[in-house]
Amino acid sequence: MIRKFRCSDLKDILEIEKRAFPKSPYNRFTFWYYASAYADNFLVYVHEDKEKGLNKIVGYITFYPSGHIVSIAVHPANRRRGIGTELVREVLKRTKGNASVEVRESNEVAKEFYKHLGFSLRTIIPKYYGDEDALVMIRKGSESSFIL
Ligand SMILES: CC(C)(COP(=O)(O)OP(=O)(O)OC[C@H]1O[C@@H](n2cnc3c(N)ncnc32)[C@H](O)[C@@H]1OP(=O)(O)O)[C@@H](O)C(=O)NCCC(=O)NCCS
Repeated sequence: MIRKFRCSDLKDILEIEKRAFPKSPYNRFTFWYYASAYADNFLVYVHEDKEKGLNKIVGYITFYPSGHIVSIAVHPANRRRGIGTELVREVLKRTKGNASVEVRESNEVAKEFYKHLGFSLRTIIPKYYGDEDALVMIRKGSESSFIL
């Protein structure tokens, strides 16, 4: 199930973040900022274990209203099950299929992931991450005049 972020999700999100980006995880203040400034654009994927009556956050996405993805991560134990795809598709539903994202040049998994979702390379920003270039990848919807 995908729903909007709630304050009680933060603990699970920080855990996912640490595992997904061990070198430079966002901290709680960054997540609070996105939750308050872009409340409609901070979504979480909730795994429901009906037998145990437990709900756990296993993924999240933050994005700007334009469709620019700020961050996405899925807990390592839940990857390759289509959760990331579902999260991005929620964004695409709201932006008529348009989206953009910066990806670390070395992040082969993310590059494959976005290609799979119809993104392609738009440009490269040298040293965007200080130590590394960013690939700017975009996806254009069928009926739009999306400009990055
Ligand atoms: C990128 C990420 C969000 C993908 O989430 P996910 O739920 O595992 O992705 P999905 O299951 O929806 O994968 C969709 C497709 O992406 C590609 N893909 C995903 N993981 C892949 C991997 N490890 N190797 C190669 N291709 C991969 C495949 O084409 C996959 O389709 P398939 O499983 O039918 O082959 C997840 O790997 C993650 O959290 N990574 C760490 C954080 C990160 O790098 N975020 C992106 C920063 S820009």
